[in-house]
Amino acid sequence: MITIVDDNFSQLNDFLHEKSFSKIFILVDENTHEYCLPTLLGNLETDLGFEILEIEAGEEMKNIQTANQLWEILTEMQADRKALVINLGGGVITDMGGFVASTYKRGIQFINIPTTLLSMCDASIGGKTGIDLMHYKNMVGTFTFPEQIFVYPKFLETLPFKELRSGFAEMLKHGLIADKLHWENLTGIHKLDVEGIIPHIQTSMDIKQEVVEKDFHEKNIRKNLNFGHTIGHAIESLCLSQGNPILHGEAVAMGMISEAHLAFLEGLLSEEDAGIIIENIQRYYPYLDISDFKDEDIFGLLLNDKKNTDSKINFSLVSGIGSCVFDHQCHQKNIVGSLEFYRNLINS
Ligand SMILES: NC(=O)c1ccc[n+]([C@@H]2O[C@H](COP(=O)([O-])OP(=O)(O)OC[C@H]3O[C@@H](n4cnc5c(N)ncnc54)[C@H](O)[C@@H]3O)[C@@H](O)[C@H]2O)c1
Ligand SMILES: [Zn+2]
Repeated sequence: MITIVDDNFSQLNDFLHEKSFSKIFILVDENTHEYCLPTLLGNLETDLGFEILEIEAGEEMKNIQTANQLWEILTEMQADRKALVINLGGGVITDMGGFVASTYKRGIQFINIPTTLLSMCDASIGGKTGIDLMHYKNMVGTFTFPEQIFVYPKFLETLPFKELRSGFAEMLKHGLIADKLHWENLTGIHKLDVEGIIPHIQTSMDIKQEVVEKDFHEKNIRKNLNFGHTIGHAIESLCLSQGNPILHGEAVAMGMISEAHLAFLEGLLSEEDAGIIIENIQRYYPYLDISDFKDEDIFGLLLNDKKNTDSKINFSLVSGIGSCVFDHQCHQKNIVGSLEFYRNLINS
């Protein structure tokens, strides 16, 4: 269940009173320690003992070494099966903390308190936990739901703008695949800031939650959440391998632009709707220079995508603003055309 908490975190305190946990372990990274933990601790009303577990910030920490350290600390601190892990942070913390909790002693309970826009609207919801393996993202993990998700939107006030804009891409995606009004409300925001975004967080969370409830194991409509992610992930990986990492949402924004054009080339989306989608995404996101990436390299990654079956590239593509199809296999010439379209946008 997702609950937006008030300034006193009373819903969280009620939850802690109702349950009988033995001890609380709060997982933070250095930034959420500084910016979010004081607010949480200042409002926490519980007789339970608690410990703070801090890791460095960043995706590089989402690995088995960190998981191992956390399992060891839990063991040394004698966390029993009634212990509660509170994940206070962005997607790295909720993925990692969820993974550690869901495997420690075959699973202890955890709750998520997301502190980035991306984790509020996406990562903390849906029960996917995990860590990266070598340079493959989210290779090892579990499907385990948190006991609860508590959202305090004011945590976003300290989030760097680029991180906010990155999470906003997932919100735009939610509108595009499922809810035209949500898309229109979001694109009605002229200056991207916390105040403008907060009123729309609930709708995005609901869309993600509803999709996940209908298809937990991603056999059908959960795949729609991958719109923009097929090309987006490939570009994200190539930027990373060149030593110029970009934020996930920046890659997804680029991916949504080329995949909207791809949906048009495939005859799924009208030229008019493709144009509306592309123009609006361009309003918020700077152009990403992909001129150095060869089509062969991009295809190499597209063929490796986890969503593929039978060595065919499966796309989730919008078929209108607010609707989406999944498992769509595109003509190779159209995929090339959509990349070319994006490259040419630099001059437009
Ligand atoms: N499980 C899922 O379904 C799912 C879905 C999408 C993404 N993810 C995962 O989420 C991760 C990305 O999440 P993210 O974008 O939240 O990254 P993140 O957790 O790395 O947070 C981004 C940065 O913001 C900082 N930060 C967090 N909250 C802050 C605050 N309130 N004020 C100031 N700084 C703050 C963090 O310390 C970090 O430096 C990736 O690992 C991705 O794989 C998982
Ligand atoms: Zn995403």
